[in-house]
Amino acid sequence: MAIRQTRNISLPPHQDSFIERLVSGGRYRTASEVVRQGLRLLEEAEHRRLLEEWIVEELTEEEQGRIPPELLDDVRAHFRQLADAALSEVAEDRHVDGPTAMQRLRERIEPVGTSQPTSAEGDPVTRYDAYDPFARVYDRHWGFFAARAYPILEHLVLGSLPSGCAVLDLCCGTGQLAAELSRRRFRTTGLDGSEAMIGIARKNAPDADFVVQDVRNIALPGRFSAVFSTFDSLNHVMRLDELEQVFRSVFAVLDGGGYFVFDLNMEEGFRSRWRGSFEFVEDDHVCVVRSSHDANEKTGRLDVTLFELKASGWVRTDFPLIQRWYQEREIRNLLRKAGFGELQSLDESEPILEGSMHEGRMFFVATNGAAH
Ligand SMILES: C[S@@+](CC[C@H](N)C(=O)[O-])C[C@H]1O[C@@H](n2cnc3c(N)ncnc32)[C@H](O)[C@@H]1O
Repeated sequence: MAIRQTRNISLPPHQDSFIERLVSGGRYRTASEVVRQGLRLLEEAEHRRLLEEWIVEELTEEEQGRIPPELLDDVRAHFRQLADAALSEVAEDRHVDGPTAMQRLRERIEPVGTSQPTSAEGDPVTRYDAYDPFARVYDRHWGFFAARAYPILEHLVLGSLPSGCAVLDLCCGTGQLAAELSRRRFRTTGLDGSEAMIGIARKNAPDADFVVQDVRNIALPGRFSAVFSTFDSLNHVMRLDELEQVFRSVFAVLDGGGYFVFDLNMEEGFRSRWRGSFEFVEDDHVCVVRSSHDANEKTGRLDVTLFELKASGWVRTDFPLIQRWYQEREIRNLLRKAGFGELQSLDESEPILEGSMHEGRMFFVATNGAAH
């Protein structure tokens, strides 16, 4: 039988009342849960410190043994990917001078150590990077959504925010919305799991800040007046407990009275639109997308086959993009559980969405309850 160890910990009064506030506010069930979450963050910080040290100088075997093996594997795979990317840049005659190459490398390395996502139970989850092979094609053919979404966000939230305040674009993709937000003088941060998408976002929105992180484990300094997530990005979160984790993290980075606005594909959207195939044919790429849905699993799937013309010739890549649907009441429950107060949901019959949004897409607006 496992023996449960207990420890008495003495805390200064302000930390004691901080824990009490978190528990009585419903964000955590018990004080132990708060302490465990605190330790998890400490552990992540320690892993990050070791990884940074590892990048700069060698670690002893004992120190390497303190980093979870899957995290080390992730970093090794990441380095391999960087090396491949650098080689293909050289192959495509896009090589740059030494200092620029080093600067790029540093920008790409940084995010690895800064996020080791964990699920609500503390299990490690892998950063979502399924859009990496899709980034250039996405930028070209799917970047249009921001132009449709911006007037809606303006009507719902942005119109009442002073310019200059901080906003976060979650799952920002190739940065078209971030570009528009920073053009309107909002201090914009974009977050996405795909390094390749972020790479393009940095070019599309040079005035915004970007981080490569998983939305299931947001770790950002500072707070935001509004958080957005558009074009069914959150349908990519495949589990209810992970979506709850996302909502809790968003709640934690919102200013008092801040807004969280996102859209989701709902069941009727998958049933009516996720069927059949479509394609794009351009001089330097051909992309075929076959869509399907599974009502039992509540999932939708895009199977993408992409041919790209590279220096070495046509290169084929196949990959799936998978989404899950949730019921409106599940989303409302989760938002409440995460601490959000006022909730509003809008479907395509709302005048502001009419004509510009697909069938079966819903927008949710949640505030964290404090007065504006
Ligand atoms: C359909 S695109 C939408 C991009 C952008 N919001 C737009 O409106 O064009 C979905 C984006 O969500 C990102 N994404 C999906 N799941 C994610 C996760 N768990 N963590 C971080 N980013 C994620 C993908 O990398 C991709 O860039």
